[in-house]
Amino acid sequence: MQAMGIDVWVPRDADDELEEAEDAGTQLPAAGLDWPELRDCVANCTRCELSTSRTNTVFGVGNADADWLIIGEAPGAEEDRRGEPFVGRAGQLLDQMLLAIGQSREQVFIANILKCRPPNNRDPKPDEAAACREYLERQIELVRPKIILAVGRIAAQNLLGSDEPVGRMRGRPHDLGGIPLVVTYHPAYLLRSPSQKAKSWSDLCLASRLAAEVAA
Ligand code: URA
Repeated sequence: MQAMGIDVWVPRDADDELEEAEDAGTQLPAAGLDWPELRDCVANCTRCELSTSRTNTVFGVGNADADWLIIGEAPGAEEDRRGEPFVGRAGQLLDQMLLAIGQSREQVFIANILKCRPPNNRDPKPDEAAACREYLERQIELVRPKIILAVGRIAAQNLLGSDEPVGRMRGRPHDLGGIPLVVTYHPAYLLRSPSQKAKSWSDLCLASRLAAEVAA
């Protein structure tokens, strides 16, 4: 056909579209992207003003096929420097909490509501959480976890669209698009209030029971 001077149309693949969108400085929808495409999309994201102050995006770490998805708030200073979630003291406590339920950082997947650090560790703004939401939704679709553990108020309120305090959301099962979700205290809060660790332990036990009820 080419020899006859007829244009041959070939389907564009997602990589081409991603490259073109990056060149044009626009943002593609994250729906339908695979892991490398999604990672690339997040690394180049300019959807909100946090892209101007970040050092690194913090995509998330762990097992792409995990049973457990842990969702925190947003990167802090150390996470922004290293590009990895929960690497400070709160991260060490999170690792210990995971160990207590027979899980490790390598077995689970850990992500945040925001992929970029808010300056001075302020709370995420609603428009920032909304801009980042699609990335997290695609991560949830790709991981297909048996259980989601929302750690802290910001994660729980954003995921469940609620303004209840953690104390009222924890201790019972929730549902996020068919996936059981348990709310517990943020490890940074537990470092300040160790007396709440017993409640967090009972939340982890609840989450373990719910995960075990989900068919493999
Ligand atoms: N706190 C969070 O919620 N997430 C991190 O990645 C680090 C600290």
